[in-house]
Amino acid sequence: MRRILVAGNWKMHGSRAMVQELLEGLLAGTERENGVDMAVFPPYPYLAQAQSLLENSNITWGAQNLNPAPKGAHTGEVSPSMLLDFGCRYVLVGHSERRTIYGESDENVADRFDAALEAGLEPILCVGETLEEREDNLTEAVVERQLDAVLNQSGVAAFSRAVVAYEPVWAIGTGKTASPEQAQAVHAFIRDKFASRDDIIAGQIRILYGGSVNGSNAADLFAREDIDGGLVGGASLKVEDFLSIRNAVV
Ligand code: PGA
Repeated sequence: MRRILVAGNWKMHGSRAMVQELLEGLLAGTERENGVDMAVFPPYPYLAQAQSLLENSNITWGAQNLNPAPKGAHTGEVSPSMLLDFGCRYVLVGHSERRTIYGESDENVADRFDAALEAGLEPILCVGETLEEREDNLTEAVVERQLDAVLNQSGVAAFSRAVVAYEPVWAIGTGKTASPEQAQAVHAFIRDKFASRDDIIAGQIRILYGGSVNGSNAADLFAREDIDGGLVGGASLKVEDFLSIRNAVV
């Protein structure tokens, strides 16, 4: 059985005070286990704070990106082992904002995925099409290309310690969610793709949906066969909103 994972991508939001309040609220709201895994992705400077507040709790944490190099002359970058040092379990790779604003190519994303795994982190590989690509019927081709870049480099077995997040770019931060049917169709396509290489991995891998997930649409989305939780941006920044997504599951 795949456990639902609800992951909060805070993007470039937060302050020490906000992190304190948000995490204390989430800790209070998740004391009682309900079968849902929760994770938060604060900006780098707040990872230490997340570690000290969340250690020994039901909530795990991770980073929003990493540099694939182990160390060296990479001014402004953060290495995989630094994330481990702050207790990260997960790291996002290939978020559409990284791909579009910061020019991360499929190959670049594959290198980050590889480096994360090698260091002992669980990468959450983000894939998804733009509106234009969807309108041109290219959704499957784009998602397949993004997955293949990683599968061909790391192999399917690598996904026994990884998560995939399908995030249609047109649904991110727009308030326009993919319908449960639209999302399920792409999730099934992704799972089939894994199944063509390895049935066991296909059955085990968690595929999250991301793009304007909130407390009102989460239950419908997560009820679909191949949707195993959500990668949540805006709605992960308020205790109530984020908890309502977790609690929508039961
Ligand atoms: P959103 O962001 O929930 O604000 O649409 C999702 C994401 O970018 O991961």
